[in-house]
Amino acid sequence: MPGDGRLDDDDRVASNGSGIAISGDGRTFTLTVPPTLHLTLGDVVVLDPDDGAEPLLGQVVEQDPPTTKARGRGMGGVLIGGVDPAGPLRLHGGRPFSEAAVTRASTDQLEELQRLSDAGIPIGTWASGEVTVPARMRAQGFGRHTFLCGQSGSGKTYALGVILEQLLLHTHMRMVVLDPNADFVGLGETLPGADQESAGGLAELDIRVLRAGDESAQPLRARFATMSRQAQAAVLRLDPLTNRAEYNAFLHLMAELRRMEIGEIGEIAARLQDGDPDARALGQRIENLGVLGWTAWAQDQPSAAETIAGGARATVMDLSGFGDPQEPLAVALDVVEALWEQRRSRTPTLIVIDEAHNLCPTEPASPIQALIVERLVQIAAEGRKYGLWLLLSSQRPSKIHPQALSQCDNLVLMRMNSPGDLAELAGMYGFAPPAMLRTSQFFAQREALVAGTFVPRPALVRMGARLTREGGSDVRVPVAEATAAS
Ligand SMILES: Nc1ncnc2c1ncn2[C@@H]1O[C@H](COP(=O)(O)OP(=O)(O)OP(=O)(O)O)[C@@H](O)[C@H]1O
Ligand SMILES: [Mg+2]
Repeated sequence: MPGDGRLDDDDRVASNGSGIAISGDGRTFTLTVPPTLHLTLGDVVVLDPDDGAEPLLGQVVEQDPPTTKARGRGMGGVLIGGVDPAGPLRLHGGRPFSEAAVTRASTDQLEELQRLSDAGIPIGTWASGEVTVPARMRAQGFGRHTFLCGQSGSGKTYALGVILEQLLLHTHMRMVVLDPNADFVGLGETLPGADQESAGGLAELDIRVLRAGDESAQPLRARFATMSRQAQAAVLRLDPLTNRAEYNAFLHLMAELRRMEIGEIGEIAARLQDGDPDARALGQRIENLGVLGWTAWAQDQPSAAETIAGGARATVMDLSGFGDPQEPLAVALDVVEALWEQRRSRTPTLIVIDEAHNLCPTEPASPIQALIVERLVQIAAEGRKYGLWLLLSSQRPSKIHPQALSQCDNLVLMRMNSPGDLAELAGMYGFAPPAMLRTSQFFAQREALVAGTFVPRPALVRMGARLTREGGSDVRVPVAEATAAS
């Protein structure tokens, strides 16, 4: 990265008001910027070497601490390509130079940079230097795992909605949304203000919203009979060693029921009442846990996993309506296991998990949660070759299992105040320039840093507007009329 002593270059600020850059390695450059040239982190610049060679394209990714020096400030950047005045941009190859005048990239150059990078999915705006262009993401970049992070209220769920809508419109990727707070139940309902083309495009898609506790919606269910033995045991909190006798009774009973092609939880319980002491103990366990009363069991309804396998383009699973906290976990486990089980179909699938610390925590709190984490970590490590990609959203990196997080190659960072969390992100995601990460402390609500394979360059963007209805926006404090008027 750029070296020391940039401010000592003050004297070399060009008299015409452009900055002066030097590159000793052909990869990075240091830059002295006069007060009249407004450059900020993330800005794309054109560097015109004084040896008459082809201008280069670069991006500012570092800056010295603020200073009162009048004549210039130090910044650093990376070289990202070349600018042939007669031809297209080139997005590779830099070379050393001893002095270059620096100017800000134009609208056309920013657009071309995105076009050449196959970035075509609009998510908002990207301001660089004095111009603003649509911010576009690369569809192929979503063939990696993504982490969306930001403190509470920073706009993660809103931004996630914007990204999902655009992915629905611009890709054919299947989408499974694990939604803990009913925030995405309106994903199929376009807002009156949405442009007609987008509204029409979304209206054609098979978007299913599965919910518990809402008679008018398609129910959100899991099928006990087809869960893996391990998953069934986790639901029943059965450990093969600690609960040897009960577990064994369970294995034999399930083998028998499988031959009869049944195995729903109610059928199991019914057969345990008159059995031997181990069977009766198992029956008591099922009764004590209350699993018979769960509304999560599919019975004669399709399970969420079956709806997804049936070809729905997007399936939103509203996990918020269950009575027992283990029920949403059981449904999520059933779906995640089914997606993994069917991985050889290689169906490109984005598994979106908002508030991902509920399903992929650093320290699982129940056997079901432990199995979900195990499967998600496996998908994080091996899912890419089967077309299973994770998009995890959470308030803090430390709340998410590190083996899932470390596999993410894309970052969306919204406002984040905690220096510790920022340091953790900087340590994990070398592709996000640390100085740009630090600016997130000052982000307004809709601003985000996007970095990784899904964007041509790390960029500070302003998220666009939602096209579909937000499920649950924040509740405002009711203000007394007299106060509101004052
Ligand atoms: N770009 C935006 N445009 C308009 N409103 C927004 C935007 N981003 C966020 N909001 C509003 O701000 C509030 C908080 O946003 P959001 O729920 O997305 O935050 P969050 O980061 O997901 O918070 P939490 O971590 O608590 O879930 C919501 O009411 C949302 O409607
Ligand atoms: Mg949220």
